[in-house]
Parts: sequence; structure tokens; C-alpha cells
Amino acid sequence: MSLESHQPVSNASAVQEPQARAALAPVWLIVLMFMLLYCGAVYFDQNGGWFDSRIYAPYQTYTELESFQPKGGGPDLARGKAVFDTICALCHGANGEGKPGQAPPLAGSEWAQGSPDRMIRIPLYGLSGAVSVKGQQFNLAMPAMGAALSPDDLASVLVYIRTSWGNKGSVVTPEQVSAIKAKVGNHPQPFTVDELNAIQ
Ligand code: HEC
Repeated sequence: MSLESHQPVSNASAVQEPQARAALAPVWLIVLMFMLLYCGAVYFDQNGGWFDSRIYAPYQTYTELESFQPKGGGPDLARGKAVFDTICALCHGANGEGKPGQAPPLAGSEWAQGSPDRMIRIPLYGLSGAVSVKGQQFNLAMPAMGAALSPDDLASVLVYIRTSWGNKGSVVTPEQVSAIKAKVGNHPQPFTVDELNAIQ
């Protein structure tokens, strides 16, 4: 048997076998791509600034840009609410409305919206004796409930109290808290209203 005998017997000249060969991309597609490339280059040339660092001034690096952002670590209302809910709400109520026989209200309180120098001292050192809040007389005692808090946390909870439930107090910063701690130092007894009122 010879190899030739296995070849299909066909009329080869009449039937074209399909063949795999590289097809040429249409010319219009190539032209279109060059046109797009050209337009892109022109656009970049006119608007891109050729990566000149002055174009991005004054922020030339990410680190530099970050250094211009407001510093983190300031009063944080979400943190303030969390601290309030775990510590202060126990006596002053979740909405700062106060609890009869336990604590006066913070919502609408002149102490909670007034001088930060006086207010900061209350959680740091406590308050005892007669106090008038929203025209009501109280004569209870609050321990130094905020003495263990960091200046950041205490500032955050005070800002939360001073700006919640319709209160309109100014912002208290951690620096103010630290300054009062340093100024007052050791004060084993809670403050009294007379002492607080003596502070300018
Ligand atoms: C154990 C209960 C208790 C806890 C907890 C407590 N307080 Fe008080 N707070 C009082 C009492 C009682 C008074 C009133 C003291 C008085 O009659 O002299 C008061 C008074 C105040 C006042 C001044 C009066 C007013 O109502 O505005 C402020 C401000 C204040 N507390 C803030 C806080 C903050 C901030 C916290 C949380 C860090 C806190 N308190 C946690 C019991 C508490």
C-alpha cells in the first residue's frame, strides 16, 4: 500500500479548503486610531502641563497636601456621644433632660452653654452644693466623673453636650482642658458654685 492511496479522491481545483491566515485590519480602523492618538496628544499638550511640578502647586506631594489638612484628634462628636452615653447619661439622662433627685438637666442649662472655663472644671473635679439650673434649685453632688478621661475625650463630650438638644455653646478644645488641669492642679474637693462664679 502506498501513501497516495489514502489521499481523498476529490476534485481539488473546484472546492477551496478554508485556510487560517492573518486577516488585515481595515485601513479605516488604523486611521481612526491614529486620529484618536493625535487628539489625545494635542489635548495633553494643551492641558497636561507636561508634569511640571509648578502646575500642582502648592501641593506637590501627597504628604505635603496632607500637612495642609486640619489636624485630626480634635473634638469628635461621635466619640463625644459615645462617652456621654456611657458616663454622663447615667445621671443626666440620654437626652440631657436630667433626672429628678439625681442630676439637673444639661439641655438648655446655662452651665452647659456658658463659660468653658467653668464647665470644664465640673466633670474634672466634680460639683457640690446649691446650684441653680434653668431657674430650678438643686443641692446635690456630682463626683469628678470626667477626671479619668483624656483631654481629647473630655473635650469631645463637652462639645457634644454644648451643641446637642438645642444647646448653643462654643467649642471646647483638648488644649483648653489640659490648660485647666495644669492651672487647677490638685483640687480634692468638688467645686462649689461660688468658686465657679469667681472664675472670670
Ligand atoms: C453620678 C451622677 C452624675 C454623673 C455620672 C454625671 N453628673 Fe454631672 N451632675 C450631677 C449632679 C448631681 C449635678 C449637680 C451638682 C450640685 O447639685 O451641686 C451635676 C451637674 C453637672 C453640670 C452643671 C449643672 C448643669 O446641669 O448644667 C454639668 C455641666 C455636668 N454635671 C456635666 C457632666 C458631664 C460632662 C458628665 C459626664 C462626664 C456628668 N456630668 C456626669 C451628677 C452626675
